[in-house]
Amino acid sequence: MITEEIKIAHISDLHLSGIKDRRQLGDFDRLLVHFKATGCDHLVISGDLSNNADQEDWRIVRAKLELHGFYRWDKTTVIAGNHDLINLEEEMRFYNALNPLPLVRKKVFDRRLKEFCLFFQELITGEKQGEKSFPFIKIIKYPSLRIAFTALNSVYPWYPAENPLGARGMVSPGQLRALGKENVTASLKECFVIGLCHHAYKVYGTDSLIDQAFDWTMELKNREEFLSLMKVLRAKLVLHGHFHRFQSYVVDGITFINGGSFRYSPKCYSELLIDGEGNCKQSFVLLP
Ligand SMILES: [Fe+2]
Ligand SMILES: [Fe+2]
Repeated sequence: MITEEIKIAHISDLHLSGIKDRRQLGDFDRLLVHFKATGCDHLVISGDLSNNADQEDWRIVRAKLELHGFYRWDKTTVIAGNHDLINLEEEMRFYNALNPLPLVRKKVFDRRLKEFCLFFQELITGEKQGEKSFPFIKIIKYPSLRIAFTALNSVYPWYPAENPLGARGMVSPGQLRALGKENVTASLKECFVIGLCHHAYKVYGTDSLIDQAFDWTMELKNREEFLSLMKVLRAKLVLHGHFHRFQSYVVDGITFINGGSFRYSPKCYSELLIDGEGNCKQSFVLLP
């Protein structure tokens, strides 16, 4: 039995704001240099790369990953966050001016999601002709273990009444169906499965009315369906972001890890060490 540990770094919610924010870019460089120096096998970025759904920020992420040798299918996985796909101001302006039908808005949203997948296609599919869309599964074979990342998009279009801040999430029924198929579960049998989505299973969850009102605008609408799928896939961990807090919690035997926010805590990240027998140690690391 090979007992070599696999090291996975998880960051989230970069909320980059363009090339001019040199401090932020410097922080990002420092983090990537650290990952390389400490022998990080894989990096997960769980969404909200941009603050204003600006492709320029995606470009920065791609360039930085390339610069530090992480822009490879087996080295990095990225998923989209609401701030990558929804520009709230633009949505409202568009809505007030044209009042488009929900179907039209949904089409615009789908196009945006497709753009994200095409932009990061090298990280989504290892093959040139491979499917570049959500959900996607990555099985990486390390000498000691196979790790499977099962990535779902949880960003849900902006709707004035139902999703007024664009921050509510939902995993589409199509994605749930696609990953729930028997051949998918069979293909993951020998793997250590890690689920990925942007939205949190658990937001505040307190009895305070203010927190509850806030929870509603941030929540993953169908989190129970998502959880059921994770159980079917025998996921050990789910990595997410969105709710800018570094935390971990267990739901029905699955450990959820919130990667916090790079924008607000650029020196902190979540580290996973997984051995050949599937034992996992997680910690939040703070750079000096
Ligand atoms: Fe965020
Ligand atoms: Fe978010």
